[in-house]
Amino acid sequence: MSAASGASPSLRRSLLLWLLWPLLLIAPAAAGLQYVLALKPALRAFDHSLGATVISIGNFVRTSPQGLQFEMSAQTERSIRTNQTDAVFYVVTGPQRELLAGDPPLAEPPISLAAQEWHFYDARVFEQAVRVAALGVVCGDAVCQVRVAQTTGAREALRNDMLAGTALSLLLLTAALVVAALVATSRGLLPMHRLSRQLGSRSLADLRPLAASEVPREAITVVGAVNRLFERVDAGSAAQQAFLADAAHQLRTPLATLQTEAELAVMQPHPPELSATLHRISAAATRAARLGSQLLSLARSDAIARSATPTEAVDLKHLTSLAANEWVPRALAAQIDLGFELQSAAVNGNAFLLQEMLDNLLHNALTYAGAGAQVTVRTNSTRGVTRLEVEDNGPGIAPEDRERVLQRFQRGAQNLGRGSGLGLAIVSDVVKAHGARLLLKEGADGKGLLVRVTFESAARRQNTA
Ligand SMILES: Nc1ncnc2c1ncn2[C@@H]1O[C@H](COP(=O)(O)OP(=O)(O)O)[C@@H](O)[C@H]1O
Ligand SMILES: [Mg+2]
Repeated sequence: MSAASGASPSLRRSLLLWLLWPLLLIAPAAAGLQYVLALKPALRAFDHSLGATVISIGNFVRTSPQGLQFEMSAQTERSIRTNQTDAVFYVVTGPQRELLAGDPPLAEPPISLAAQEWHFYDARVFEQAVRVAALGVVCGDAVCQVRVAQTTGAREALRNDMLAGTALSLLLLTAALVVAALVATSRGLLPMHRLSRQLGSRSLADLRPLAASEVPREAITVVGAVNRLFERVDAGSAAQQAFLADAAHQLRTPLATLQTEAELAVMQPHPPELSATLHRISAAATRAARLGSQLLSLARSDAIARSATPTEAVDLKHLTSLAANEWVPRALAAQIDLGFELQSAAVNGNAFLLQEMLDNLLHNALTYAGAGAQVTVRTNSTRGVTRLEVEDNGPGIAPEDRERVLQRFQRGAQNLGRGSGLGLAIVSDVVKAHGARLLLKEGADGKGLLVRVTFESAARRQNTA
C-alpha cells in the first residue's frame, strides 16, 4: 500500500474530504447564525433603554392655557446627556412639527407618528451615526413627538466583541474538528497499514491465510478474497512441485540405466573409432542422471520448506562421516587431498536435505578445485552456533559472481561444461529451509573457496534479535 501510485484513489484522502468539506461549510454558517441570533436581543436592549429616555423626556411636555410647554430642569437635561458612554441628542416637536426643545438637526427629516406609536431608525446627526427612538406623545388634542438619538459607539463595541468571540470559537472548533478528523482517519486506517505490512513482509512460501480477527469488519471481504487467492496459489504451486518431483523421479530409473549401460559399453571391446563417442555418451549420461536427482532434491526441499515438516535432531559430524565413505574414493580418483576436521555439531533439521547440501558442496569442491588441491570439511558447535564448512584451495569464485551462482541454472566461469548450475541453488534452498545463513568467501591465504553454513539455535536467535 505504501507503493500506491499517485493515480490510485486514496481512502484516507476521500474520507478526509467528505469529513472536512461539510465541516468547512457548516461551521461558518453555524457561527454566523449564532452571531446574528445573539446580537439581536443585545441590540434590542439598547433600543429599550433609549425608549426609556424618550418616555421620561415625553413627561415634560405639558398643555396649559398658554399653549404647549416643555419644561426640563438643567440638571435633568445634564443627566440625560451625560449618563451614557455615547453622546445623546433629543428633540421635542409640536403637532405642526414645530420645534419645542432640543437639538434642531434631529428634527429632520420630519416624520409623522400616531399617539403612542414608536419608530426606531438609524440616522446621522452632526456627521455622526446615531440610533434614533421616536414616540408620538399626546399633547392636548394633538400629537407631539419626542426623539432621542444616541451615537453608536457602545453598539459598535458590542458588535465587535461578539464578532471577535464568534470568530475565535469558530477557529477553535474548526481546528479541533480538523485535528480530530486527521487523527480519526489515521487511526481508522491503522489496521489496513498493519495488514499491508503483514502481507509485504511475507515470504513467497508463506501462504497461510490471514487472520480475519486482526482486520476491521470492512476489510474482511478483502481478506477473504486474499485468502482464497492464497489457497489457489498454494494448490497451484503444490501441483507444480508434485509434477516436478514425479517427473524427476520417473527420469531417475531410465537415466541410471543409461548411465550404467554407457559405462559398460565403454569397458566392452569396441572399434577404436567409436571410443570417443562412447566416452561422450557415458559422460552425458552421468550428467543427466545427476541432473535428475538434483531436480528431485530441489522439489523435495521446496515441499519440505512449505509443509513445515517437523524437524529431527541431526549431528552434522555423523552426517559427514557417512558421506566420507562415498567421497574419499572419488577424491582419490580426482587426486584431491580430502580431509575432515569434525566435532560434534547438532542441529534441528531434515537429514535428507542436509545430506543433499553436503553432497553438492563436496561435488563442487572435487569438481572445481582441480587435481592436487586440498579440500577440508569442518563441523563444530560453540555456544548455540553450529557451523559446517567446506573449504578448498582451488581457483575459487570471483566476489562479483558469488551472488549469481546461488541461483538456479547459473554456472560460473569454472563450470568446465560439466554442471547444470543447480548445486549451489540446492545448497541455498536447504540453508533457507533451515533458517541458517550461507557465506561464500575465499579460503585461507585468500585462495580457493570457503562455503560456510551457520545454524543458530532458536534460543540464541531470540537473544540476539
Ligand atoms: N568449489 C568451487 N570452486 C570454484 N568454483 C566453484 C566451486 N563451487 C562452485 N563453483 C562455481 O559455481 C558455479 C555454480 O555451481 P553449482 O550451482 O554447483 O552448479 P554446477 O556445479 O552445476 O555448475 C559453478 O559452475 C562453478 O563455476
Ligand atoms: Mg555443482
